[in-house]
Amino acid sequence: MTTTADVRKRFLEDYRRIRHAEGRGSQDSEYYRALPSCNRSDLNAGMWAMRAKTYSYFVRNVLACFEKRSEAPLDVLDLGAGNCWLSHRLALRGHRLVAVDIFNDERDGLRAARHYPAAFQAVEADFDDLPLPSQRFDLAIFNASFHYSVNYVRTLSEVRRCLRPSGSVVILDSPIYRLREHGMRMVEEKHAAFRKRYGFPSDSLSSIDFLDIGTLKQLQHTLHLDWQILKPWYGWNWHLRPVKAFLRGRRPPSKFWILIGTFRDL
Ligand SMILES: C[S@@+](CC[C@H](N)C(=O)[O-])C[C@H]1O[C@@H](n2cnc3c(N)ncnc32)[C@H](O)[C@@H]1O
Repeated sequence: MTTTADVRKRFLEDYRRIRHAEGRGSQDSEYYRALPSCNRSDLNAGMWAMRAKTYSYFVRNVLACFEKRSEAPLDVLDLGAGNCWLSHRLALRGHRLVAVDIFNDERDGLRAARHYPAAFQAVEADFDDLPLPSQRFDLAIFNASFHYSVNYVRTLSEVRRCLRPSGSVVILDSPIYRLREHGMRMVEEKHAAFRKRYGFPSDSLSSIDFLDIGTLKQLQHTLHLDWQILKPWYGWNWHLRPVKAFLRGRRPPSKFWILIGTFRDL
């Protein structure tokens, strides 16, 4: 019989193999401390450039509002923190961070936290089952990690438990489609690409892998959750991707909107 622990172990083995093959991480502390900025020669420079744009938009348009509202430093959860670069950035701004991940890899997971000078707590845990007290946090951020959830209602219910009544959940850099069928096609394409490149589809965790407008409406209804949707500008090339996809007869590409969720009954 396959247990949850077996599934998790298999996911982490596949994930580690893929991330290392993609050239993630470094031996050099300076590399981590500069993130989301990185050298142009970095194998993942294009991806980091996008992440940097999202981060700067988030600081100007979301975090600044929370900072203005609160005189004290914010208590922030960084869920699916990876190498903890966001925790580092926000700790430098004076906030109290808890970075959570199931991946403790020293290049690309929680153990990379040793590279940062700013202090924050790193907790190895599943974001569906947080070993943290209730009503303790002002913000819960999923940075390129929410779509790894296998059950969005469960994941968001656990976040709601940990938020203060004035708190919000923020979802950054998760792929969003208008229609569910387009997300399903992306998942099929991704599994096929992984199978071709690595010899396995990397689907052991049954992550949902994307969001779509219908799912956002369902979550709003089920969890009494209001969404605010922000649309950062990523440049003309990015903006014209849907037109190019249409002309090539391909499915529409994902959007990387910023979602701010506020629970009505907190
Ligand atoms: C694409 S990485 C993003 C890492 C980091 N937030 C960033 O911005 O670079 C997604 C992360 O989510 C983590 N993750 C996936 N499922 C998780 C879960 N159920 N609980 C906690 N972390 C999870 C993975 O281990 C991985 O580190």
